[in-house]
Amino acid sequence: MPDYSLRIRRYSPETGEAPYWQEFGIELDGHRSVLDGILQARDREDGSIGIRCSCRAAICGSCGVRINGRPGLACHMHLNQAAASSRDGTITIEPMGNMPVLKDLITDMDAVHWKKIRRVTPWLLPDGDPPEREYIVPKESMVDVTQSMACIQCGACVSDCLSMEVDPEFIGPAALAKAYRFVGDPRDGQQFERLKDLSEDPHGIYDCTHCFNCIEACPKGVAPMSQIMRLRRIAGADHHIDDANNGHRHEQAFVSLVKQGGLLHEAELLPRSYAGDSWFAKFKPKAAAELVDSLPVITKAVMRGKVSPASALMGHKITDHKNLRRIFDTIEDKDERFELNLYIVQPDDEVPDDKAPAGDAHGAAGSSSPERSPNA
Ligand code: SF4
Ligand code: SF4
Ligand code: FES
Repeated sequence: MPDYSLRIRRYSPETGEAPYWQEFGIELDGHRSVLDGILQARDREDGSIGIRCSCRAAICGSCGVRINGRPGLACHMHLNQAAASSRDGTITIEPMGNMPVLKDLITDMDAVHWKKIRRVTPWLLPDGDPPEREYIVPKESMVDVTQSMACIQCGACVSDCLSMEVDPEFIGPAALAKAYRFVGDPRDGQQFERLKDLSEDPHGIYDCTHCFNCIEACPKGVAPMSQIMRLRRIAGADHHIDDANNGHRHEQAFVSLVKQGGLLHEAELLPRSYAGDSWFAKFKPKAAAELVDSLPVITKAVMRGKVSPASALMGHKITDHKNLRRIFDTIEDKDERFELNLYIVQPDDEVPDDKAPAGDAHGAAGSSSPERSPNA
């Protein structure tokens, strides 16, 4: 009686046959990895099972697959955990998504992942002549890019990126996290040029939809979406890059509408995103054209009762939003940006005293830990 069952998706494109599922019984202890299970099936039952692996220790990033529908490293998941999270006790293993399949569990990383990594110029571009000896960099600056440096290029985030599913040209989470590694490095002399390029690209930093999938998928805590948000903040707040995708204007309009009324006024957001953060934006040709274009969607929403004509035109407001304004005032008065990294979950009692944030900010973050970064 085997200890575990694996259901592996088999596919060999050159045969012209459709993919199919094949089940294998595995005799291994529960603490052994899913990768060990796949390798046993290959050794004992079918030597043609295609799987890529090397280190078997969650370091090389080559064994990325989907286990029970979620992306991860096959060598980094115990068989007993995988069986417990399966639908019916059988562990389902598929190739990663958003990449062409070469054979069974092996995807073409060159065609998607590595192509996108090359897109962001993944090396330092320092200004001027190199120093006689090594570059001296402040410790805090390197701490700031450490999170993005932890990437092992496994492609798990790419596999589950919703934007990439809709727009395969999107540069994507892994490559943009890599971009932050160089944008945040004080030795690099092309910060503005890199950010301008990534902001202006219609498939660049403003193409991310904040779905959080890459944060959940990453086995190394790189939190690619957080790195993308940092790129946006430096591009917009530090370099004032007014991109052709309306990304920065959209962000500005969003913030100022919430500041004014306590809630988002959607009908105002659209024209301001296209033509600048002002009540008069709707009369500018760029915004007017966009409003006309959106009329069928707005009409449908009104007819289905999702919005009333009054709230569409007048918006909705919180009458007393003094406390909200106080948050804005406190943040805007600060000389240095103070970032709460809301995506690193850590119980409060594990936050070291010297990292504990001041006052209200901690309460607002709940169980998340703060992250302070001069560049973030
Ligand atoms: S948060 Fe953005 S980059 Fe990350 S998976 Fe979602 S759409 Fe992709
Ligand atoms: S960011 Fe994380 S999930 Fe994405 S390639 Fe790097 S290590 Fe893998
Ligand atoms: S085999 Fe290297 S990460 Fe899994």
